[in-house]
This record gives sequence, C-alpha cells and structure tokens, in this order.
Amino acid sequence: MGLTLESLLEDAVVRLSAAARNRRSAMHTPVVGTADGDLRIMVLREVAGDLATLRFHTDLRSPKCVLIGSGAPVSILAYDPETRIQLRMRGEGRIESEGPVANAAWERATASSRRCYLAETGPGGALPAAGSAIPAALLHRSPTIAETVAGRAHFAVLLIEVRSLDWLQLTHEGGARARYTRDDASAPWQGTWLAP
Ligand SMILES: Cc1cc2nc3c(=O)[nH]c(=O)nc-3n(C[C@H](O)[C@H](O)[C@H](O)COP(=O)(O)O)c2cc1C
Repeated sequence: MGLTLESLLEDAVVRLSAAARNRRSAMHTPVVGTADGDLRIMVLREVAGDLATLRFHTDLRSPKCVLIGSGAPVSILAYDPETRIQLRMRGEGRIESEGPVANAAWERATASSRRCYLAETGPGGALPAAGSAIPAALLHRSPTIAETVAGRAHFAVLLIEVRSLDWLQLTHEGGARARYTRDDASAPWQGTWLAP
C-alpha cells in the first residue's frame, strides 16, 4: 500500500500513543525543547486526540516551569532507531500544578514515581556534594503513599498542544517526509509532502 498523508499522520498518533504506554519504546522518552534553546529528556505520559495534548510530568521547582508558565512555545523530538522514524513537533506548552488534570495525574502516580517530588532541593538547585536530593531515609526504599503527600506541592504536568508535526523516515530507497500544521487543536491538520 502506498503512503498517504492521512496514513502517516495516523502512524505518528498511534506510535506516540503506544510509546506513552510502553516504557521500553524509544519514543517513551522524547527530547523536549524550550525557547531558551535548552533541551531535556522527559517521559511521555499520555497522548490525547490527534496530538491535541501530550502530557508530561515535572517538578514545579525546575527552571523550565517558570519558562513555560501558562503558555510558551515548546518542541518535542522523538526517534525510533528500529524503524528510523523521526517525529519532530512544535506546539504550545503550559504548566499546570493544580486543577483536574494535575490532580488526576498525581492520584494515578505510584508511590515510587512520586518519590522524586520529595527531593529537598528542586532540579537544578546546588548541592554540596554529588548525589540525590531525596531524603536519605527514602533512598533505598519506596515511600508509603502517606509519605508522598508532601511531594504534591512540587508536582506539575506539562501539557503540550501540538501544532506542527514533521514525520520523517530515512530508508535505503530514500524515505519519505511529510509536514502537518494547524493553528490550534480544534482545526484540522493540513499536510504536505517534503523532500527528506
Ligand atoms: C531517562 C530520563 C527521564 C526523565 N524524565 C523526566 C520527566 O519525565 N520529567 C522531567 O521533568 N524531567 C525528566 N528528566 C530530567 C530532565 O531531563 C531534566 O534534567 C530536568 O527535568 C531538569 O530540566 P530543566 O532544568 O530544563 O527544568 C528525565 C531524565 C532522564 C535521563
């Protein structure tokens, strides 16, 4: 079957949705870029709609939260070396530390994944020596759910509305590349073929 613009868009949505559920997928940990030029790996938690929202979890004390705030341009780069497919996205990001989305994400998080929010120094804060900022008593065990309550104040979600997607696969035969754009998540995607 030949490639169509519709099938490649669907491929990206299916691929990222599956990656959010599968810790072993290469696209489970894409690179997220901010407008200051910085990049970092983040765990993709959920894909809603046709890339209407990508959800990530983060520590509210980390510098990117101030940078992104209630709305800022962000980029996402995911690569699957097995299929040699690169997905390059741009969108509008926002940080939410309160409200139904952040509350539900916190409620669903396991005690072990909540543990990092108990760190006494936020990401990027200076430490006197090498190591973790997690309380020593919790370094070698998961906290109980009751012990994680203090971490809630540091927990936030990063929600990204994807507004452009560049799908690229390089193969020995040359490959294919398509770009999709839209003004916001309520508008239909507009796709076009590009030279790889
Ligand atoms: C495998 C891996 C997974 C990570 N997952 C996340 C994540 O889900 N959320 C997050 O905020 N940082 C995550 N990080 C840490 C970030 O890459 C980054 O160091 C941290 O968020 C501070 O970023 P900032 O200074 O840009 O705020 C992860 C790092 C690695 C290596």
